Amino acid sequence: MISLNIEKCLGFTSKEAIKAWEPKVKAAQEALENGTCLGNDFLGWLHLPSSITKEELNDIKATAQVLRDNCEVVVVAGIGGSYLGARAVIEALSNSFTWLQDKKTAPVIVYAGHNISEDYLYELTEFLKDKKFGVINISKSGTTTETALAFRLLKKQCEDQRGKEMAQKVIVAITDASKGAARITADKEGYKSFIIPDIVGGRFSVLTPVGLLPIAVAGFDIDKFVAGAVEMEKTCGLSTPFEENPAAMYAATRNELYKDGKKIEILVNFNPKLHYVNEWWKQLYGESEGKDNKGIFPAAVDFSTDLHSMGQWIQEGERTIFETVISVDQVDHKLEVPSDKDNLDGLNYLAGKRIDEVNKMAELGTQLAHVDGGVPNLRIVIPSLSESTIGGLLYFFEIACGISGILLGVNPFNQPGVEAYKANMFALLNKPGYEEASKAIQAKL
Ligand code: PA5
Repeated sequence: MISLNIEKCLGFTSKEAIKAWEPKVKAAQEALENGTCLGNDFLGWLHLPSSITKEELNDIKATAQVLRDNCEVVVVAGIGGSYLGARAVIEALSNSFTWLQDKKTAPVIVYAGHNISEDYLYELTEFLKDKKFGVINISKSGTTTETALAFRLLKKQCEDQRGKEMAQKVIVAITDASKGAARITADKEGYKSFIIPDIVGGRFSVLTPVGLLPIAVAGFDIDKFVAGAVEMEKTCGLSTPFEENPAAMYAATRNELYKDGKKIEILVNFNPKLHYVNEWWKQLYGESEGKDNKGIFPAAVDFSTDLHSMGQWIQEGERTIFETVISVDQVDHKLEVPSDKDNLDGLNYLAGKRIDEVNKMAELGTQLAHVDGGVPNLRIVIPSLSESTIGGLLYFFEIACGISGILLGVNPFNQPGVEAYKANMFALLNKPGYEEASKAIQAKL
């Protein structure tokens, strides 16, 4: 379903050097399986695909149906791992323009709680003014400021616009079983709620209701999504030999390149629908590996768009980068370049060709140019954009991330560094409990 090609790295490193990681990769896989790695209290994601039950999926689908029946717009409120997975899948599978059209088969999904922009929130509330809207409030801790702030506004607007009874029906909470303000509110208001298991970290939660509910509301088949992940769980399991296991090979190759001074990995797509897969991947790898003064810096570009911006840097800038390209083999639609009798634009040499053929030649040409320019290139090929291929792709990245973080020698499942800005922000805003910190930070200003 997914294939990984590392041939275009071999001018920079060798098959032998990558193969030398095999024992360490095997040990990392065993540590994940046996729960003996750092962060072993957050390994609940490892077998999520194969352990989710029919009942859980049916409950999610039934809740999605309530939102679909009663809402024109559903706001997914969440940040980081509590929204990027859903957005990655929904944008990968959606028609780029449907949401602008009048005739829709599913509620429009919009996002909130992932920034603190007054303009964004004002414009969102204006947009929602004449709409039948619902909210999926997603926060594992239930206390994240960005999400809580957006939810406060959305809850009030929903109740004011739709009445308390309907608001109770169209607001769904996905949060901790017992802790946090989101849980307290959900229980007090009687919202339908789902639990984010303690043992699943936010960025590994796309195969829980965190990802599955918004994906189902948007009209996509979560059974197929999970099935794709199940297949990948098998493919990337311990019983698959090293060289046939894409997660093992990806983790080994990127660590070998990092050891050789390739400090930045750029995830590349040639399809704008994958923009948020890139964003999800950046969070997954950035939060998992960037610690203890170590870690590959995860960057991302959308080609060919960014060939006209970042392309220069990638071709000729500092040679500390490698690229991982997600290549989609088959597109969904057919569109040929028309012939033009005047040929004023000089494009008749392309007449009759599929647009995707032009895109594929851009992809190949870019790969050859960047490799010639000193950029090792990994290529992940997926057959098409579908629920099952995206489910497989995301699980592949998750398990490869777990293995890779262990190879790097960090705890891939915590994110202590995220707290620093929050502590400063709370001190600056005089949050109760931060009195001493407030004084200290004021003295620094
Ligand atoms: O991956 C993570 O754990 C984080 O990105 C969280 O998902 C993010 O900080 C949001 O946290 P919460 O779900 O508690 O609101």
